[in-house]
Amino acid sequence: MNLPVFAFLLSLTVHSQAATLCDTPARTLASPDQKIQVRFCLQNGAPHYAVEMDQKPVLGWSALGFELKDQPALRANFLLDDTRITQHDSTWEQVWGEERFIRDQHAEMTLDLVEKTSPARRLTLIFRAYNDGIAFRYAFPEQEALKEFTIMNELTEFNFTQDAPAWSIQAYTELVYEQIFRKIPLSQIPVSHTPLTIEGDGFVASLHEAALVDYSSMQIKSRGDSRLFADLAPWADGSKVKTRAPMKTPWRTMQLGRAPGDLVTSYLILNLNEPNRLTDTSWIQPMKYMGIWWGMHIGRFTWHSGPRHGATTENAKAYIDAAAQLKMPALLIEGWNIGWDTWGADSSFDYLRSYPDFDLKAVTDYGREKGVEIIGHHETAGDVRHYERQMEEAFRLYRDVGVRSVKTGYVKFQIEGEYHYGQSMVRHYQKVIDLAAKYGIMINAHEPVKDTGLRRTYPNFMTREGGRGTEYEAWDGPVGNPPSHTTVLPFTRGLSGPFDYTPGIFDLLTGSRPGVDRLHTTLAKQLALYVTIYSPMHMAADLPEHYMNHPAFKFIQDVPVDWFTTRVLSADIGQHVTIARKDRRSEDWYIGSITNEQGRNLDITLDFLNAAVQYCAEIYRDTDETNWENNPAVFEVATRRVRRGDHMTLRLAPGGGQAIRLSPCE
Ligand code: NOJ
Repeated sequence: MNLPVFAFLLSLTVHSQAATLCDTPARTLASPDQKIQVRFCLQNGAPHYAVEMDQKPVLGWSALGFELKDQPALRANFLLDDTRITQHDSTWEQVWGEERFIRDQHAEMTLDLVEKTSPARRLTLIFRAYNDGIAFRYAFPEQEALKEFTIMNELTEFNFTQDAPAWSIQAYTELVYEQIFRKIPLSQIPVSHTPLTIEGDGFVASLHEAALVDYSSMQIKSRGDSRLFADLAPWADGSKVKTRAPMKTPWRTMQLGRAPGDLVTSYLILNLNEPNRLTDTSWIQPMKYMGIWWGMHIGRFTWHSGPRHGATTENAKAYIDAAAQLKMPALLIEGWNIGWDTWGADSSFDYLRSYPDFDLKAVTDYGREKGVEIIGHHETAGDVRHYERQMEEAFRLYRDVGVRSVKTGYVKFQIEGEYHYGQSMVRHYQKVIDLAAKYGIMINAHEPVKDTGLRRTYPNFMTREGGRGTEYEAWDGPVGNPPSHTTVLPFTRGLSGPFDYTPGIFDLLTGSRPGVDRLHTTLAKQLALYVTIYSPMHMAADLPEHYMNHPAFKFIQDVPVDWFTTRVLSADIGQHVTIARKDRRSEDWYIGSITNEQGRNLDITLDFLNAAVQYCAEIYRDTDETNWENNPAVFEVATRRVRRGDHMTLRLAPGGGQAIRLSPCE
């Protein structure tokens, strides 16, 4: 039997099985382009859904429901009371982002379920179908039979029809999200964080969630085959979510595409979040920054007091001078406040008092004089309640000296027995973002909970870590971030939101242990990362002396951090990725192209350029002699005139990359 015929028969089987299982005919919701369909039905009173794309099943019947504390589960015994379908099409503008205007076009189906027998509890399901995926959430309406309650388990299933390979990182480990993604079949994935990206036969999909507010984050478990289910992070007492009706859960999302690049330009997660709640956003500004930071990671400075203390007034002024000279608008200063000598043990971090050799006011005044704003730093070491007690005053202090962005940190496996991604910490991060907004402060959270698109609602939530960033190259050199790591990120971690990856290291062979720690990229690839990794705050992470008079630094000066639009020109997860982005404020386009350990030539077509314009390309690329392992810093700058439709062959060295600026020729 040939393959298409077999697939057709298989899909008939799946559908006819479906028909026999349902109590009543399935309700179907189709995406605006009709290519994606979600089906819903009750099977012996138990809610189930299934998904298909291009007329092929992606998810077979998958159950929905909850186990609750001290009361029967909400998983069966339902009647469908009412169904409503609505259509939506609008376009909204991001305050900042990888895409200025986002179209939100979807169909929505609301299903009101009620239990057949007393106490007749009610549960509502809301499904959405977009052209780039599906989403659903549960809503608990206000009702007598369900007031305050505790969720012990969410029973959501994702029963894939293929045991397809997936890119995953393991949940409940000390590294939290700071891991290297592995590609393994769904049947073998460990309990995994999301985004969990699946490369199926005929589709790519990514499971994640949107609008994670006052709930536990969702991890994914496999039943040992292609059937997956939600695993909510527990509180220390084992319960999952403490809540009260009326409430809505976060959206469970599955972005869908035909090729990996489709996932990168899917804005489904943002579309599912509430619109911006901040009335005045004039103070929110994407920016590039330098820092008294890498020096600590490679052992030149210390965070704590002593002869190598990095955050001294003198050193800060020298860094401000350097940032001004290099035309970098902001400087992060870590290790400025009391508490680093014991890493915050016994609540010793003080967010209001500087070390005696650091004068916050003098430094911020000096920065202002030189046109360099200071980025504050609050490392909590997980002592969250202590931080919460000082937080308001700490933000006020920063505001009063003109600091309008703060990097936060939570270096610890568990925080007072709770996970970074459990409900308790989800509440904490929300508290931070709300209070920061009140004081006009932007947040860059390290050791965060994963992003679920809340930056749309709170555009002062600029960026986060939540992944394995450049710092691993400084102290985990033998493994570091292997060359393939950054070719996986746009399709996994990157799908959740901006990543403060801290690229831009030019001194590629230095780390905290000489001869051991080093970067796993070429210099040209360091430049390309500013485009392939999206963040509205990108760091020029290296020591200033490595940038002075360096011809490649011009690219870091030029590259924007706020975009009009984004295109994916090549995408093979774990192999290579090429992304083009247009500046939000000019006609310039930038291209970043990176490869794994394998060198390669990639052909791209400049079909996205404005046909009326001739562009001058500045190309920063590896040479024939470059490779990440023994000749990483060699690069060349070439120039070329190009037009819409022209082809370019990008030569990437092993572990290499290429960064291109295209601007209208004068
Ligand atoms: C880990 C963060 O990722 C890093 O950027 C920071 O320098 C240290 N924690 C100290 O807070």
